[in-house]
Amino acid sequence: MNYRVPFVDPKEHYRRIKSEIDCAITSTLGNGDLVLRQQLRDFEQHLAEFVGVKYAVGVGSGYHALHFSLLAAGVGQGDEVITVAHTFVATVSAIVHSGAKPILVDVAADYNMDVGALEAAITSRTKAIIPVHLNGRVCDMDCVMAVADKHRLHVIEDAAQALGASFNGKKAGSFGLTGCFSFYPFKALGGLGDGGAVTTDDPEVARFVTLLRFNGEDRQTGEFLHHGYTALLDNVQAAVLDVKLRYLPSWIEHRRKMASLYREGLEGIEGLRLPHFPGDEYYDSYQNYVIQTQHRDELRQYLRDLGVETLVHWAKPLWEHKDLALENHGLPETESICREVISLPMSAETTLEHVKVTVSSIRDFFTAQPIALQTGVAP
Ligand SMILES: Cc1ncc(COP(=O)(O)O)c(C=O)c1O
Repeated sequence: MNYRVPFVDPKEHYRRIKSEIDCAITSTLGNGDLVLRQQLRDFEQHLAEFVGVKYAVGVGSGYHALHFSLLAAGVGQGDEVITVAHTFVATVSAIVHSGAKPILVDVAADYNMDVGALEAAITSRTKAIIPVHLNGRVCDMDCVMAVADKHRLHVIEDAAQALGASFNGKKAGSFGLTGCFSFYPFKALGGLGDGGAVTTDDPEVARFVTLLRFNGEDRQTGEFLHHGYTALLDNVQAAVLDVKLRYLPSWIEHRRKMASLYREGLEGIEGLRLPHFPGDEYYDSYQNYVIQTQHRDELRQYLRDLGVETLVHWAKPLWEHKDLALENHGLPETESICREVISLPMSAETTLEHVKVTVSSIRDFFTAQPIALQTGVAP
């Protein structure tokens, strides 16, 4: 289906910076620089500077960033790792693949970890915490770090959705032992395919991840120091990401402008919750603009009929995917979020006109058919 307002527009994204992207690709390929070359080192250095840490190590995906971080923290069989239930499955799969048991806690009103629930979930087996900075908003890292310090736990930030977001002037990915980023094509900084990075201030962690991503090989000596993985961030990808990283601050500002327009246009609609949360200390990057309503499915259909594309992150709690064999902790916020959230168009290519169309379509839905909504009958 051709949407009037697409959720994302990769063709338009490419068109706008085509000459720079083409130049990065052709010069990388022209030099035969395919694996572990200067382009990767340059991108890693720029990413580390951007996040405000000493090291960034490119890896094959956000998943690998999480998995390698857990291994770097020494997490393994018999350990427990606390994270949120309301996250992408990769956060939890990384814990499972490290050999540890995921302990899922609920989220608070801003969709991030409920810090009260965090402390209650700690046991003698807990080894690490993975706060997830969802939708481009950093968790309250003062609280998370205080709890972690008190109980001597590692913090691995899942910052896959939050590159460029900050809390108290400190960027996502610079608080914990590591920050884990994803360059999946539709992230704020999206590559040509899968990609990710680990950020850290710890030289040992950076070295360990550098070994793991390339089969455990010490490139200087040829010695295999670990049973590793094949999980490089490809050089061509790094060259393209390095171009895009220069645009990221302006893309985030554009996202923030669209978020204010959504707010202006949608504020005051009864039964509609908007993602604007208190706290001047937060700088949100709006990877997703998520609204919440009990009439989610009807609203989605209504918008689809008008040519406005939306997504749902995520339609059922992870523990309801039976084959994952996760414990059902009965987390009420996560459950209601799954029933009610809807993500509106929000990308570097989404125009202010797109936002206006989306806002007026949502307003029409709520104002044109209030009786149907009150009685629960689909309009
Ligand atoms: C919160 C979160 N964690 C982890 C990941 C995994 O990243 P990747 O898809 O690059 O493996 C994603 C990607 O969607 C994500 O949104």
